[in-house]
Amino acid sequence: MTIVIFGGAGDLARRKLLPALYNLHVDGLLPPRIVIAGVGRKPMSDDEYRAFAKAGVAKFSRRPIDEATWAIFAEALFFVTAGLDDEPGLAPLGTRLGTIEHERGLNGDRIYYLAVPPTLFAPTVKELARARLVERGSGCIARLIVEKPIGRDLESARAINDAIAEVFDEKDIYRIDHYLGKETVQNILVMRFANSIFEPLFNKRYVDHVQITVAEEEGVGTRAGYYEQAGALRDMVQNHLLQLLAMVAMEPPHSLEADVVRDERLEVLQSLRPIEGASVDAQVVRAQYAAGFIVGRPVPGYREEPNVNPQSRTEAFVALQIYIDNWRWAGVPFFLRTGKRLPKRASQISVHLKEVPPILFNANPSARLDANVLSIRIQPDEGFSLGISSKVPGPQVRIYPVKMDFHYGSTFGGTSPEAYERLLLDVMVGDTTLFMRRDAVEAAWQWVMPILDHWAQSQDSLPTYPAGDWGPPGAERLIESTGHRWLAP
Ligand code: BG6
Repeated sequence: MTIVIFGGAGDLARRKLLPALYNLHVDGLLPPRIVIAGVGRKPMSDDEYRAFAKAGVAKFSRRPIDEATWAIFAEALFFVTAGLDDEPGLAPLGTRLGTIEHERGLNGDRIYYLAVPPTLFAPTVKELARARLVERGSGCIARLIVEKPIGRDLESARAINDAIAEVFDEKDIYRIDHYLGKETVQNILVMRFANSIFEPLFNKRYVDHVQITVAEEEGVGTRAGYYEQAGALRDMVQNHLLQLLAMVAMEPPHSLEADVVRDERLEVLQSLRPIEGASVDAQVVRAQYAAGFIVGRPVPGYREEPNVNPQSRTEAFVALQIYIDNWRWAGVPFFLRTGKRLPKRASQISVHLKEVPPILFNANPSARLDANVLSIRIQPDEGFSLGISSKVPGPQVRIYPVKMDFHYGSTFGGTSPEAYERLLLDVMVGDTTLFMRRDAVEAAWQWVMPILDHWAQSQDSLPTYPAGDWGPPGAERLIESTGHRWLAP
């Protein structure tokens, strides 16, 4: 197999893709004969690329470099300098790949990874076709991996999907949402459908509400060029949070076949109640961080970050109240929030069960029992816990909330594979389950569009929150108006 990474000398390759491939190699999960070819405009020799990769792996791999293991891995790495607009286009890339594959005895099965800005998705795919690198007439596999963002609205997403569909079949297109590759996210399905205790409770009869928090401590960093055009709704909610929601809320699929599972996730997206017009102001809160403190260290506000417009109206925080209009979830609110410069990096889904009736142990109105909460910790302390009311030992009946707690680290040991390890492996074996199908990407855009349109017309000033706080007061009011509180992860 040959993996061709467009943007091979870029940030994603250095931080995520090359470290993921190295860890797959350490685990013996890569095919025995593999070529990894970085492609970029800058001239770079194979040796320089190996040094670039080694520096990235040394810094970002979950496991340290072992020199002997690295030496074998490094032999698979190559770099090809190629641009899209020169007359030969990608033809020289094809020639070089052909030579390397011939020398290594590979049959020419290829994965093309678009780790490039979205403006280059369509031109790269077009050039791949023009250089005859997709249909090579020999029955070889040619798969395409597309990174986010797939568009910045429904129209641009459709345009990208159309351009790609002219060259690749949907079954060969792997759209990445790296949240689906996280161990804890995959475990949502196992938890729900491999344990008879939980699934019967996942519906409007027993669940009071659900919260999804994806909190980041980091600010926008050096990514303002992209983020200013995106904002939290496009960057996090349209993809990652809606996928988490789909995993929690989906119906049990009748099999684990990729399209069966993807159909069920899609159903959830299609059942979301639209938030339009005045409901946007009532159900969605957006904000920017102002200067504040993170772990005691002063940090600038969003508008003071490098390359951010000092009058920017891009949101770095968003909280939403969402309803899923189907039989299972009718009337159950889902509260979602995500933001940058929150107190810590922590993502969690909590399923809040209904309170017990106000009788027996819950009869005292001034000392209500805590409702049971199932908390799924996505990261960084991966695991889940169940809050249970329990009697404190002694002659009186005193009730205290205790937790049954499962930690991946202490139970399974070691570190969980990174999302990109699992996702790259799945592309190699041709499993599309954890990837976004075209219809799902477009359904998610379709749902967020009325919110984006409403914001585009609004002149309201954007609320702020000091960096290091859990968002603006409006986010607290959003959930408190329904009688609930955010559960701190
Ligand atoms: C990316 C977003 O998709 O996800 C980033 O573009 C965000 O803005 C990142 O920081 C969060 O991913 P993770 O895996 O660190 O939670």
